[in-house]
Amino acid sequence: MNITMIGTGYVGLASGVCYSEIGHKVICADIDENKINQLKQNRCPIYEPGLEELIIKNSLNGNLYFTTDLSHAINSSDIIMIAVGTPSLSDGSVDMSYVEDVARIIGNSISSYKVIVNKSTVPVGSAFRVRDIIKSHTDTNFDVASVPEFLREGSAVNDILNGERIVIGVDSIKARKQLLELHEPFQIHIQLTDIHSAELIKYAANSFLAMKISFINEIANLAEKVGADVTEVAKGIGSDSRIGSKFLSAGIGFGGACFPKDTLGLINIAQKVGHNFSLMEEVVEVNRKQYQRVIGKLLSVYPDLRGRVVSILGLTFKPNTNDLREAPSLKIINDLLDLTDGNIGIKVYDPVGMTEAKTILPNTVTFCNSVEEAIIDSEAALLVTEWKEIVEKDWRKTSQNMRSRVIIDGRNCIKPIQDDEVIFMSIGRNVSGNY
Ligand code: UGA
Repeated sequence: MNITMIGTGYVGLASGVCYSEIGHKVICADIDENKINQLKQNRCPIYEPGLEELIIKNSLNGNLYFTTDLSHAINSSDIIMIAVGTPSLSDGSVDMSYVEDVARIIGNSISSYKVIVNKSTVPVGSAFRVRDIIKSHTDTNFDVASVPEFLREGSAVNDILNGERIVIGVDSIKARKQLLELHEPFQIHIQLTDIHSAELIKYAANSFLAMKISFINEIANLAEKVGADVTEVAKGIGSDSRIGSKFLSAGIGFGGACFPKDTLGLINIAQKVGHNFSLMEEVVEVNRKQYQRVIGKLLSVYPDLRGRVVSILGLTFKPNTNDLREAPSLKIINDLLDLTDGNIGIKVYDPVGMTEAKTILPNTVTFCNSVEEAIIDSEAALLVTEWKEIVEKDWRKTSQNMRSRVIIDGRNCIKPIQDDEVIFMSIGRNVSGNY
């Protein structure tokens, strides 16, 4: 089948490429010329393991094509997918302006029947909004649908090609037929549903996972007070299949482009219909404070941080991505600078996110080329992102090069170090009494 994907961000690019991988002819369109030029040269603009290989393969076999000509792209396919950004506005509501712009372009461009699919995470009712906008610009017949994406950054290709379900929200037989045919080659369970439910499923899925994280983080905070180990508790509850063991890693809270935005988005969707979703408000509030736990622990060792040297290891919001959006590392660094009026040495290292970090962090921060360089002469190492490279270090040995051997593991990602010369702290684990 022929499909056009409008927007080559994470969702648009990764899903567009995967549709081409299962044999469809895909045009990925974006107004960002820079990005499209890179893609035409088979270079992937985002760090996503395995994606560039698939771009090269499917561009060469003629299944994948990139363009900035939106109206040509729209008229070349029967199925048009909208995968443009939907950032949060300051009141937590979703900025629909990019989606609406695309709807207007579609309305002004289509000359034959199309199925218009929302892939972006958009509030309930957005597909109908898109329908109204397109209708106001054309008499051509079309249908709208919602096919939310559940990929995770860092494992996008595998999540799409081997996902656990595909949700298709439709309200017409014609759209249903086309979208079933489009997705059948994935050989993944398909849930056919109405459009509003499909839209709500996306928010409910992300918010539920975020709730699991805030829940286990609160258990961790409680475990510290009662002298228990949150990793043991997570193991104990996670082996109950009704709870499930995933997304029960306590730490410094969730970040990234999705959970923070979608939890606020769900609260906002509820508010708009007069529903007070206070449970989600608490999930957001717990997360807002969670990163401060590592700073509290640092202050328990150094009540005055002025003049100290601290290394931050891992900057991206999670491993296997170069994405720093809503990364807890940024909040930690900001707070450290605020607390000390900038009178603190901060040395940072991330295996992949350094280029991005240099565009965001102040130049008073020292950017290092390795864990070793970042910890030399440092008085505390904060492990913020559980990159393999960071986790697999022999920390007892590595820490010998620090001025003071203080290690705060914000992700419970290394084995607790029991050594009289090392102060080791983690989140919610009753280790050597240092919390
Ligand atoms: C998330 C969802 O997992 C995807 O299913 C969804 O498609 C995507 O949002 C989206 O809406 O596009 P992503 O943001 O890439 O994916 O990352 P996750 O792996 O879900 O991690 C999110 C955050 O939660 C990270 O900061 C991570 O460190 C944190 N986390 C995750 C924890 O603190 N504990 C855990 O147990 C798991």
